Amino acid sequence: MKRIWLFLPLLIMLNAGEDFISHYEYGEMLYNNPRGVSCAQCHGEDGSGTIIVELKEQQELQTISGTDIRNKSLEMMIESVNRYHEIMPRYYLTDEEVKAIYDFIRKKNKLDMVSEKKNSNP
Ligand code: HEC
Repeated sequence: MKRIWLFLPLLIMLNAGEDFISHYEYGEMLYNNPRGVSCAQCHGEDGSGTIIVELKEQQELQTISGTDIRNKSLEMMIESVNRYHEIMPRYYLTDEEVKAIYDFIRKKNKLDMVSEKKNSNP
């Protein structure tokens, strides 16, 4: 009868396993390090896009940037991540993983809006 107490913490841990990290944290983790090449590197911290490289070609400054992906639909994001591009790598992420990234970008930008509003209040 005493033995059950030995297993109790383990059982609690197994039950809580799913909640160890939130859906938001999971999306954040995936966005920042999906298979080694971070979306953030090209699409910025919040999905608004950023300059990837700047190079001078025949006296002209050329820039290559990642696009603003904040307003892309989930369907388009899934389609895009699974397709070959010239610059963007092709990822092998499941639909659930892309959904987590999508939700992360949405939520992050909503949170950013809230904190901006707070800051602009006198
Ligand atoms: C090496 C840079 C790079 C990385 C890393 C990268 N992207 Fe991109 N992405 C681009 C560029 C450049 C484009 C636009 C041109 C194109 O389609 O190749 C793009 C396009 C997109 C589009 C389509 C936007 C449109 O207007 O068609 C989506 C959605 C997207 N990326 C999401 C992601 C997600 C999610 C990740 C991480 C899993 C990611 N990207 C990682 C560079 C990158």
